Amino acid sequence: MANRNGWGRGRSVPTGSPQVPPDSFVEQANVADEDVYATFDEEWPACWERAADLLSWDRPYDAVLEDDDPPFYRWFTGGRLNAAYNCVDRHLEAGRKTHAAIRWEGKHGERETYTYRDLYVAVNEFAAALRDLGVEEDDVVTIYLPMIPELPIAMLACARIGAPHSVVFAGLSSDALATRMDAADSEYLVTCDGYYRRGDAFNQKGKVDNARLALEHEVETVVVDRLGDELPHVLGEREWDYHDLREEFAGATVDPVSRDAEDMLFLMYTSGTTGEPKGVVHTTGGYLAHVAWTSHAVLDVEPEDTYWCSADIGWITGHSYIVYGPLALGTTTVMYEGTPDYPDRDRLWEIVDRNAVDVFYTAPTAVRAFMKWGEEYPERHDLSSLRLLGTVGEPISPRPWNWYREHVGDGECPVVDTWWQTETGAILISTLPGVDEMKPGAAGPGLPGIDVQVIDERGEAVDPGQIGYLTVGRPWPGMARTLYGGDDQYREEYWKRFSDPDAGEWRYFSGDAAAIDEDGYVTVLGRVDDVINVSGRRLSTMEIESAITDVEGVAEAAVVGRSSGTTATEIYAYVSTEGGFGPGDDAVRETIVDNVETAIGPIATPDTVVFTPELPKTRSGKIMRRLLEDIANGDDLGDTSALRNPEIVGEIQAAIGED
Ligand code: WT7
Repeated sequence: MANRNGWGRGRSVPTGSPQVPPDSFVEQANVADEDVYATFDEEWPACWERAADLLSWDRPYDAVLEDDDPPFYRWFTGGRLNAAYNCVDRHLEAGRKTHAAIRWEGKHGERETYTYRDLYVAVNEFAAALRDLGVEEDDVVTIYLPMIPELPIAMLACARIGAPHSVVFAGLSSDALATRMDAADSEYLVTCDGYYRRGDAFNQKGKVDNARLALEHEVETVVVDRLGDELPHVLGEREWDYHDLREEFAGATVDPVSRDAEDMLFLMYTSGTTGEPKGVVHTTGGYLAHVAWTSHAVLDVEPEDTYWCSADIGWITGHSYIVYGPLALGTTTVMYEGTPDYPDRDRLWEIVDRNAVDVFYTAPTAVRAFMKWGEEYPERHDLSSLRLLGTVGEPISPRPWNWYREHVGDGECPVVDTWWQTETGAILISTLPGVDEMKPGAAGPGLPGIDVQVIDERGEAVDPGQIGYLTVGRPWPGMARTLYGGDDQYREEYWKRFSDPDAGEWRYFSGDAAAIDEDGYVTVLGRVDDVINVSGRRLSTMEIESAITDVEGVAEAAVVGRSSGTTATEIYAYVSTEGGFGPGDDAVRETIVDNVETAIGPIATPDTVVFTPELPKTRSGKIMRRLLEDIANGDDLGDTSALRNPEIVGEIQAAIGED
C-alpha cells in the first residue's frame, strides 16, 4: 500500500543512525527506569494510577478502567476533580503563589507574567463573570481568541465552573465559527475586537458579528479589548467588555465545581473525512491525567522549569501542552503571539534566551524553516538553558531532526518526535528521553501502556520495514470518549475497520500509515484518509472541495496534498468548470480562493488550482484521487487502465506544466 506522501512505492523508510541521550540528561530525567515498559504491561490497566497520582482528586476513583461497553471506555470512574483546581489552586496551596505560571510574549514585544496567584485571581473573577452571564455547568462556551493570556484564562474559568469550552482557532472564518457554535448549541462566546496579523490590525469582531447573524440562537458575547484605539469598537446588545467584567467581579472567588472524571472538559472541532468538522469530546479525569503524565514522562517537565510549546492554543497541541499538561504540573509555561520571523528570524531564540527556556516543543514545519533560514539565527543567542527538544504534528525526517539537535540543542539535547492526534488527547508514540535511544526519522515505540501496532488490510502485523495502518490495540486515559452528538460516527470512523466485536477485540484506527522496525520504533508516514496535514494543521479535503463546488460555474473539484517531504504540504485543487475548460477561468480561480477563505479560513487556501475539462474517473464514476495525488507529486502514475477517461491525464499534466 502507498500513502498520501508517496512513500511506500519502492522508497525506503529513512531513519538515521541511533543516538543516545547524554548521561547528564538521564541522571535528572523524570522517568529513567528502563523497566517502565514491562511494569506498565504487567500492571495494565492499574499502571495508569501513576498518571492519576499526578492529580489532586476530590473523591478517589473506584476503578481505573471500565470497559464493559467498548469502544466507549470510561477511566477513573467514580473519581471527582476539577481541572482548574489542579492547574491553579493547588499550586498556591503548595506555597508557589509567586511562581510564574504563564509568561506571555506579545507580537510587539509586550511581555506579561502571570504568577499562579495572578492566574488564580483572573480565573476566579472571570469564572464569576461567566456565571453571572448565565453560564451553567455543562453549557458549552466557545472561545475565539488569538494567543493572548485571556485565552488560557477563559479556558480555566470554564473548567472551574464545569462548563466545557470549545476553542475555535482565531484564524478560522466566521462561517467556520458559526458552524461550530451551531453544532455545539453554544450560546456563549469569548472573543476579542481584533489582533495583529502580519503587522496589521485585523478585525476579529467583524467575523464574530457575521457568525452571530448566521446563528439562529442568541449569543452572549464577551469581548477582550486587544487593540484599544487602534480598532475602536462599539459593544451592542448581549455584548460585554472583558476588562469591565473583571473589574465588576474584582476579588470574587468561585468554588471549583467538582466534576465526575468522565464529565466533559472540552470539545475540540477537527477536520474529518466528511465535509463537517467533528466535535472531539475530552473528559476531565482521563485527559488531565494523561496530559500531565506525558508532560512529566516525555517532555520531562518539572515544576521549576520554564517550558515552551510554540503551538497555538487554538489546536489540540496547545490545549494539552501549553495549558493543561504544564499547568497541572505547576511549571512555568510560555506562550507567544505572532510568528517565528517577526520582527526577525531569531524571534524564537530571543524568547528562549530571555526566558531561559528549559524545554522547547515545536512543529517540524518550523524546524524546516529554521534550517532554511540558517544557523546564524540560533547562533545569535544563548540557548544553553535548553535541556530537551520536541516536535509534533508531522513527520520529521533525519536531516531537519539532526539540524535541530545540532544548532538548537547544541548537539546535546535529546529530541523527542511525538506522535498523537486531536482524538488521542495526549502523546502516544515517542521515545522516553531518559530511557530510550533516538532514531532520527522515527517517532519511537508506543509509550508504556500503549499498544501500538502497524497492520495490513487483514489485520496482521506487518513485517519490519513494511508499511501498514497505524492502530492502537488497547484504550488509554486521554482518548476521546466520542464525537459530540455522534456516538455512531465515532464507532464507525475509528473502531470499525480493524475491530472484531464478536471476538471482543477492539482496535483504534488512527487514519495514518506507518512502518515499524525490529525495535518497535514507528515511522509515521501520513494520512491514508481524506485528511491532509498542512504544516501540522489538519484539513479535510471534502470540506475544501465543498467550498469550491459552491462557486458558480464549478462542476466538480478534487483536493489533494502535494508533499515533497522537505517543505510544507501544498494544497492542490483540481477543478472542472461547467461548460468545460475555457477562458475566464482566472475569475473563477479568484472566487474559488475567496470561497475557501470564507468557508474555512486562509489556512485552507489552495496553493494551486488546476482547471481540467473533467476529473479522472473510474468506470464506476469514482474520482481517482490517488492518481491526482501522484500527478501533483510528480510521481510515477502506474496503471491508468482502470480509467474511463485516460486521455484526461495528459491534459492535466499539460495544464500543470503551463502553470
Ligand atoms: C495527525 C493528527 C497532535 C497534535 C498535532 C496535530 C500527524 C502528528 C506526528 C508525528 C508524524 C504526525 C498525523 C496525525 N502527526 N504527530 N510525530 N509524526 N505525523 O493533531 O490535527 O489531530 O493531526 O498529525 O498524521 O494523524 P491533529
